[in-house]
Amino acid sequence: MTLPAARYAFDNDDPAAIDRHRCLSDMLDGHTTARLSTLGALAGRRCLELGAGGGSIAGWLARQGAHVLATDLNVRHLPTDAGYRVLRHDLVTEPLPPGEWDVIHARLLLLHLPQREEILRRLAGALAPGGALVLEEFATTFRNAVLVAPGPGDAAAYDRYLDTLVERVLPAHGNDPAWARRVHAAMVEAGLADVDTEVFARSWAGGTAGALLNAANIAQQRAGLRAAGLTDALLDRVTALMSDPRMVIRSHLVYSTIGRRR
Ligand SMILES: C[S@@+](CC[C@H](N)C(=O)[O-])C[C@H]1O[C@@H](n2cnc3c(N)ncnc32)[C@H](O)[C@@H]1O
Repeated sequence: MTLPAARYAFDNDDPAAIDRHRCLSDMLDGHTTARLSTLGALAGRRCLELGAGGGSIAGWLARQGAHVLATDLNVRHLPTDAGYRVLRHDLVTEPLPPGEWDVIHARLLLLHLPQREEILRRLAGALAPGGALVLEEFATTFRNAVLVAPGPGDAAAYDRYLDTLVERVLPAHGNDPAWARRVHAAMVEAGLADVDTEVFARSWAGGTAGALLNAANIAQQRAGLRAAGLTDALLDRVTALMSDPRMVIRSHLVYSTIGRRR
């Protein structure tokens, strides 16, 4: 079945994209690089970094001595002098860059793309023998994310924003809140071996990256959130809470799944 093209929700041309990439890097790079480090020495290995965003992981791979190709639908935040090659590439409509890859990594990408199952099979087929596919995705189906809030109604305001974003606004752009939990099975079905999943989450106080990511979400998707019924007053309140250190939230669970080609 051919699915209609859905428009990616957080286009890199938006001014909020710079904050988004900084927050994602601060939140997740430590975990991602620890996972990539389990693959062994990366020097000399051919690495494909898909949906590379701000390029922090492509840069880290290059600093390990890997030969890195970083791709994105919109490459405007990828420096061209950071030790890796940059390619504008649409993972949905274009064939994969030619070649066999020792490591293919994509973080927070396939969850946005309705064609995710078919793309995963293509990625598995592009691995060199022994190569690793590393997919990292938010699972946004888990609730009770507020750990402590400064005042009455603050937790409910955050919950309302988050429910609206992940259940209504993002799915209208092709996002699947439950995809993260299916990646492991999809890799097994694609014939990959030694499939392994690690799940990561932690607390983020207002003013830190995991909270400020929500301020970037609201800045970029305010029109969609309003169309889904949220008021400017609620969105302004949640934005302010994301800078208030008395407000502490748990981030989405990150499923990091690695599978290897036999
Ligand atoms: C949520 S950001 C994640 C960026 C980076 N992977 C990270 O985790 O920090 C998703 C990225 O995927 C890119 N993207 C969206 N749709 C794409 C597509 N069809 N092909 C390639 N990249 C795409 C976006 O432009 C954006 O840079």
